[in-house]
Amino acid sequence: MPKLITRSNSITFANPKAPVYPRLAQGKSWDEMTVTWTSGYSTKEATPFVEWGIQGQIQILSPAGTLTFSRDTMCGPPARTVGWRDPGFIHTSFLKDLWPNLKYTYRIGHRLFNGQIVWGRQNSFKAPPYPGEDSLQRVVIFGDLGKAEIDGSNEYNDFERGSINTTYQLVKDLKNIDMVMHIGDICYASGYLSQWDQFTAQVEPIASTVPYMVARR
Ligand SMILES: [Fe+2]
Repeated sequence: MPKLITRSNSITFANPKAPVYPRLAQGKSWDEMTVTWTSGYSTKEATPFVEWGIQGQIQILSPAGTLTFSRDTMCGPPARTVGWRDPGFIHTSFLKDLWPNLKYTYRIGHRLFNGQIVWGRQNSFKAPPYPGEDSLQRVVIFGDLGKAEIDGSNEYNDFERGSINTTYQLVKDLKNIDMVMHIGDICYASGYLSQWDQFTAQVEPIASTVPYMVARR
């Protein structure tokens, strides 16, 4: 009997370089928030920035830095071999002089050299309180969160099904969370770079709204 091979229609991306996965981290001082994201735009093509401000009055523009890394900085296989994939560019902007407790809105973007702006999604966050101020801060601390396919499809390292439950629960409870600390392990990419993007996409609803602080242990 001949083997039946089926495949889906081919798909295309509207813009494969589009800025994605905005993620927040608390800055070095209480009144500073950093926004990091991923895109396909090097600084030779476009200028990355964040447009932000107190909710309802977006008017500040802050520049972002651009970094990347190359295959030869990986320790060995599979990260250097079959697991390697071009990571694109990672941008970080520092939003400073935040007013305590106010809600901010922000949007990541890239200004192309023809003047056109490619925007990412718009998100909001709440600035921290003034240090010492009487306030309730709810911090969620956990480790060992990986990633999984929501549609149940199998893939390499498919042992983190539970991460979907954890992610959903955090998203559901997001209005009661002021900060997340993910203290490692993170993602379980095990040398397959695309899995980091998959993980970052999975936690984006959380990380784009509250500071998502990561650490290794
Ligand atoms: Fe672990």
